[in-house]
Amino acid sequence: MDMMVLRLSRLFLVLAVGFVIVLAPLAQAWSKEGHIMTCRIAQSLLDPAASEVVHNLLPEYVDGDLSTFCTWPDEIRHRHEYRWTSPLHYINTPDDACTFDYFRDCHDQHGVENMCVAGAIQNFTSQLMHYKDGSSDRSHNMTEALLFLSHFMGDIHQPMHVGFTSDEGGNTIEVRWFRRMSNLHHVWDRDIILTSEKEIYDQNMDFFQEDIQNNFTDGAWSDELSSWIDCDDLLTCSTKWAEESINLACKWGYEGITPGDTLADEYFKSRFPIVAQRIAQGGVRLSMILNRVFGHQPCQPNHHQEILPAT
Ligand SMILES: *[C@@H]1O[C@H](CO)[C@@H](O)[C@H](O)[C@H]1NC(C)=O
Ligand SMILES: *[C@@H]1O[C@H](CO)[C@@H](O)[C@H](O)[C@H]1NC(C)=O
Ligand SMILES: *[C@@H]1O[C@H](CO)[C@@H](O)[C@H](O)[C@H]1NC(C)=O
Ligand SMILES: [Zn+2]
Repeated sequence: MDMMVLRLSRLFLVLAVGFVIVLAPLAQAWSKEGHIMTCRIAQSLLDPAASEVVHNLLPEYVDGDLSTFCTWPDEIRHRHEYRWTSPLHYINTPDDACTFDYFRDCHDQHGVENMCVAGAIQNFTSQLMHYKDGSSDRSHNMTEALLFLSHFMGDIHQPMHVGFTSDEGGNTIEVRWFRRMSNLHHVWDRDIILTSEKEIYDQNMDFFQEDIQNNFTDGAWSDELSSWIDCDDLLTCSTKWAEESINLACKWGYEGITPGDTLADEYFKSRFPIVAQRIAQGGVRLSMILNRVFGHQPCQPNHHQEILPAT
């Protein structure tokens, strides 16, 4: 190869690698895979009435598959007309406090109240509660409300989405994940999920989802399911879910981490069960909300309600 071409191609490679390194830390969201699983689990637990409404709110070409659009809020958050949604994906809590206080913490960086993931869940749940009132009372776009709710139910369950302010939920804590550069936030968003896909599920996310669903029906979680959907007031339960996340972030995310650490097998094996449970809880709770706002189940809790649809 001509020397010039070789130099140029090397330069290009350096630029390309640099570009990837610069871009990677910007991605901050429960990964595509996490959101898709949360939505698929939720959809599998919808009662027929809720299922029909979801089908009607989605564009026809996705044929009722909610998971197709569960990452949509991440795709549009940087667009000018949706920039207001950017603070709705997470919560910043005071460093080392390991608590969430709605009035103290649920605001954007300018102090505008309710602009955090717990406030967004309340907002879009209450918008969807008007769906049954009929079109004249629907002042909001119900499709967008459904997609935002479905996405944010995933985000609020990612422990590091309710993290410390100064490190942006672990985004500025650089670590290695096995041999690759990463950061603590991204480890929880995506690295643990992708490693499990490779190491446990034969590169097939469907097996991961099946494993989660088997653990509902007869397994580790079957006794806990009813406590997961325990929610007296649909509009305030998001506070409880955010508290769970910051507790897990402190106990399993931040604990023992020093910037520059290499995280590998031991961290993976001990944290994977937490990630799997949070995806499962996000899905189960999303179905609980949708069944109550769209389905035959009353918005007030009925303590005898069935979670798993009769098959
Ligand atoms: C609630 O949604 C409306 C748009 O539907 C938006 O203008 C408002 O900022 C949202 N608030 C929160 C806390 O999500
Ligand atoms: C609602 O929002 C979706 C997604 O942004 C858009 O495609 C659709 O046209 C909107 N519907 C109405 C009635 O404005
Ligand atoms: C399901 O439960 C089994 C047995 O407790 C466990 O080994 C497995 O990791 C669980 N799967 C998920 C996805 O949590
Ligand atoms: Zn998000």
